[in-house]
Amino acid sequence: MQVTGDLLELRKIRASMAGTFGLVPTMGALHEGHASLIRRAGAECDHVGVSVFVNPSQFGPGEDLGKYPRRIGPDLEMLERLGVAAVFTPAVQGMYPDGYQTWIAVEDITIPLEGKCRPGHFRGVATIVAKLFNAFRPDRAYFGQKDAQQAAVIRRMILDLNFPVEPVVCPTVREADGLAMSSRNAYLDPRERKAAAVLYRALAAARERYQKGEREGNTLRAVMRAVLDSEPLARPEYVSAAHPDTLREVRTIETGAGVLISLAVKIGETRLIDNMIL
Ligand code: PAF
Repeated sequence: MQVTGDLLELRKIRASMAGTFGLVPTMGALHEGHASLIRRAGAECDHVGVSVFVNPSQFGPGEDLGKYPRRIGPDLEMLERLGVAAVFTPAVQGMYPDGYQTWIAVEDITIPLEGKCRPGHFRGVATIVAKLFNAFRPDRAYFGQKDAQQAAVIRRMILDLNFPVEPVVCPTVREADGLAMSSRNAYLDPRERKAAAVLYRALAAARERYQKGEREGNTLRAVMRAVLDSEPLARPEYVSAAHPDTLREVRTIETGAGVLISLAVKIGETRLIDNMIL
C-alpha cells in the first residue's frame, strides 16, 4: 500500500497503475461502513484508492470540525488489511493553499434537507470531491447511501461537469439495533448511544406503513415524528418524505416514483442523519 500526502506523488503512483481504478473518498475514523465501500470497490476495480481528509470547507461555523475524530494510525492499518493500493492523506494547506478561491456550487438539490440545516456544506463537499477526482482520476467512486443527499449532489455534479467517473452508491451498514454506522457515533455516551437507535425505529415505522399501502407524505412524516417524540433525548432537525431525485417533499407518492424518507436528529450534542429509499 502506497501512502502519500503529496499530490504530485499521488499522480505518479496513480499513473503506474494499469486497469480500472476505484476511489473511496473518506474523512477517516474508518468503520465497517467504509470497509463495505472498499470491499465493493475491490470487487469491481483492479486497484482501490482511498483519501483520508477531514475537509474543513464542508463544516459550518460552530460545527464539529475541531473535534471530528482523527485516527490515521488505525485507519492505515485497516486500509492495509483491506488491500487498498493507494492512500492520499493531504494537509489542509495542500488542498486549499493561500489564495484558494474556486468552488463548485450544485444548485437546486442542495437547497432542502441537509443544505437548509448546513448552509455551504455541499459547496465544500462538491469542491473536495471534484479535487479528489482530479487527483485520482478514478473510473468509479464509491459513496454510502447513509448520505443520500450527498450521493445525489455528487451524481448531479458528475453529470453536469462531465467527469468520466461512475458513481456507485452502496447500502448503509447498520449496528445490531439498526443505528447507521457513522464516525460521529463515537461522540455518543452510553445513554445517548442507546437513544440513537430511535432514528432507525422511526424510519422502520414509516417503511412499515408504506409497505401496507400508505402513500401520503404527511402521514409518513407524522409516523416518523411520533416515534422520535417517544425518545426524550432526541431533538429532530427535519423529518422528510421526498422525491428521490428532486428531493422535494411529496404530497402523494406517485406509483413507480418511490420516496426517500430521511431525518436529521440531535442526540445530546451529536447530530445524526439516516434515510431509507422506499
Ligand atoms: O462522506 C464523507 O465522508 C465526505 O463528505 C466526503 C465525501 C469524503 C467528502 O469530504
